[in-house]
Amino acid sequence: MKHDDIERSLPLMVVMIVIALSWGGMVEIVPLMFHDDTNEPTEGLKPLSALELEGRDIYIREGCHVCHTQMVRPFRAETERYGPYSVAGEHVYEHPFLWGSKRTGPDLARLGGRYSDEWHRAHMYNPRDVVPESIMPSYPWLFENTVDGRDTPKKMKALRMVGVPYTEEDIETAKAAVDGKPEIEALVAYLQQLGTVITKR
Ligand code: HEC
Repeated sequence: MKHDDIERSLPLMVVMIVIALSWGGMVEIVPLMFHDDTNEPTEGLKPLSALELEGRDIYIREGCHVCHTQMVRPFRAETERYGPYSVAGEHVYEHPFLWGSKRTGPDLARLGGRYSDEWHRAHMYNPRDVVPESIMPSYPWLFENTVDGRDTPKKMKALRMVGVPYTEEDIETAKAAVDGKPEIEALVAYLQQLGTVITKR
């Protein structure tokens, strides 16, 4: 079969393109599944606490990941602004990961410890109170809603099934640790640990 034959037949070309792309994709992706660098947790990495886990779910529910990435790429412009670039090992307990690809707001991968809890609370209540030119939405309801801990142990059990090392004790104490707490407290707890496994070494 000559190249001309492929180019003249649309169905054949479609099939060949699919084969070429699948092969190219597999060559890039499959080796990473077996590579220690991408599977081993970064030293010191701990699963999220019950409160941080609920905070993460609020982060997802409110669509924060639509405007914010959580991945610092290995370029100077990024590391100067945000801090050390992201590595795969930091994310092995994340299901699903929240790397994102669209930055309407700044990257949050190294946010933990950058601001005080009070700053975050003021910013979430009304971003313009602390950053006058901000276009980020306000989230006043996070101060009224409280976390319902009924599902927290179930979420942790599900995560354990996919490899997150929660202990029996973590799961037993989870409900009491979150029940009735204001949502803002959970969200801020989540934000304050972001990226700290690397930055607080
Ligand atoms: C419509 C897009 C949008 C959404 C949705 C959004 N943000 Fe933002 N965010 C921004 C923009 C723009 C900024 C930069 C201005 C500012 O600091 O307010 C920002 C800034 C921030 C900062 C400060 C980061 C820094 O390094 O200075 C934090 C923290 C933050 N957002 C958290 C959140 C959380 C948590 C949510 C979800 C509850 C959220 N954002 C939802 C657009 C958004």
